[in-house]
Amino acid sequence: MAGGAFVSEGSGGGSYEGGVTGFVIMTCIVAAMGGLLFGYDLGISGGVTSMEEFLSKFFPEVDRQMHNARRETAYCKFDNQLLQLFTSSLYLAALVSSFAASAVTRKYGRKISMFVGGVAFLIGSLFNAFATNVAMLIIGRLLLGVGVGFANQSTPVYLSEMAPAKIRGALNIGFQMAITIGILIANLINYGTSQMARNGWRVSLGLAAVPAVVMVIGSFVLPDTPNSMLERGKYEQAREMLQKIRGADNVDEEFQDLCDACESAKKVEHPWKNIFQEAKYRPALVFCSMIPFFQQFTGINVIMFYAPVLFKTLGFADDASLISAVITGVVNVVSTLVSIYAVDRYGRRLLFLEGGIQMIICQIIVGSLIGAKFGTTGSGTLTPATANWVLAFICIYVAGFAWSWGPLGWLVPSEICPLEVRPAGQAINVSVNMFFTFLIGQFFLTMLCHMKFGLFYFFGGMVLIMTIFIYFLFPETKGVPIEEMGRVWKAHPFWKRYVPDDAVIGGSGETYVKEGISQQDLRICRREEEKKNEEWKL
Ligand code: BGC
Repeated sequence: MAGGAFVSEGSGGGSYEGGVTGFVIMTCIVAAMGGLLFGYDLGISGGVTSMEEFLSKFFPEVDRQMHNARRETAYCKFDNQLLQLFTSSLYLAALVSSFAASAVTRKYGRKISMFVGGVAFLIGSLFNAFATNVAMLIIGRLLLGVGVGFANQSTPVYLSEMAPAKIRGALNIGFQMAITIGILIANLINYGTSQMARNGWRVSLGLAAVPAVVMVIGSFVLPDTPNSMLERGKYEQAREMLQKIRGADNVDEEFQDLCDACESAKKVEHPWKNIFQEAKYRPALVFCSMIPFFQQFTGINVIMFYAPVLFKTLGFADDASLISAVITGVVNVVSTLVSIYAVDRYGRRLLFLEGGIQMIICQIIVGSLIGAKFGTTGSGTLTPATANWVLAFICIYVAGFAWSWGPLGWLVPSEICPLEVRPAGQAINVSVNMFFTFLIGQFFLTMLCHMKFGLFYFFGGMVLIMTIFIYFLFPETKGVPIEEMGRVWKAHPFWKRYVPDDAVIGGSGETYVKEGISQQDLRICRREEEKKNEEWKL
């Protein structure tokens, strides 16, 4: 997701002919739609679940709970499994469908996956907009989840394969940027529709259909990627397509690299078995599973999913809750820009560590402010001044996330896996992320009910653990070509024991290519292409 499936083959790239063409710009627009849709779905549910009309129609129990004086604590106002399922079900469907999506993407191409994703989004948003009962709502959310699974599997891959290598890295964070913009748009729309006398929630949920339609149309109009054509044995067409998208006749070098990468990827027989069993892949396995797990336990989706509900729980008025969500949305977008600027200048470690410390401090302060004023019974009230401080520290916390674990949670796993286990590493990253996103979505309101303000200390504690984890175990990967990653592990006091000396040379497919070990084998692709040309001439 969020750029999680980015393929950054080869490190050469810079010397290829051709540049940013109209095609490339079109692909960026479509890819942005994929990110926007994901962000929109992340951001829209919180505002909708805080709307009275929506609650009384679908979740009358929660509505009663909200007004029930006997309910002993305000922390539990929204504690309802079905309501949480409305938010979380999407991520469960995304988790399951991303496995199907990776098979479809490989076998039938990226465009088909984008088409399936767009259609699922479209039908899902219609189900939601016209829902008359909870079942329709949940079915709609599940379909949106299928859309997320397919779109997030295919669009980042599509994008990175179409884009010239020199802008590939920036595009990786660009996808995260599109997500944050999607969240912000959702927050703004929720604010707008909450002013409508009736059915505002239908408009909020239904508007997801707009980018979905763009994505469906895009999947028809846009060409398939050269990589995907090669994967399916269409050599001649792949070359022509590369010439077209690069706007250059001489694309020999890049085409040969694509062929090489394609061939060496085909040679990998058991990527799953390898990543789990071979010691030299231990660092990749650990980071591809721990980074998404930790990313979700920063507690960010408490804010992204439930900010309006949380603010309402704390006694903010309806309007103020939705405006506060817009404010956190703006901070999220702007701080992601900071990350784009800083990630290759100051490195990943600095961002991880600084962002972590910033989040811990904010979580302790927010927990303490709420605890002091709101107590354990939730019967107190926040004064306007305290409420403003809570909002301010939540914003500083969101900023810390948005320039550290937000983008890095997707960037790092995509850049540390050697080519031969990269798809497996990406799949682990995406599924672990979706699984824990689901858990947070499903249980946050229940956790808030039981742990009260202590919940903020809990997430603060988790961020402390992950910051220590990064400090001791994560070596800087800034500016390290993927094929050199073995050296980074070998130089690390902990990871060196897992990485045998020869892995430093043969740590990845690209290195084999560089060392010339299997150069001859890797020319098969070119020969195949020539054979096809001959046949064609006959
Ligand atoms: C995370 C999402 C989160 C978003 C917030 C992403 O990197 O994976 O779970 O909602 O950032 O911007």
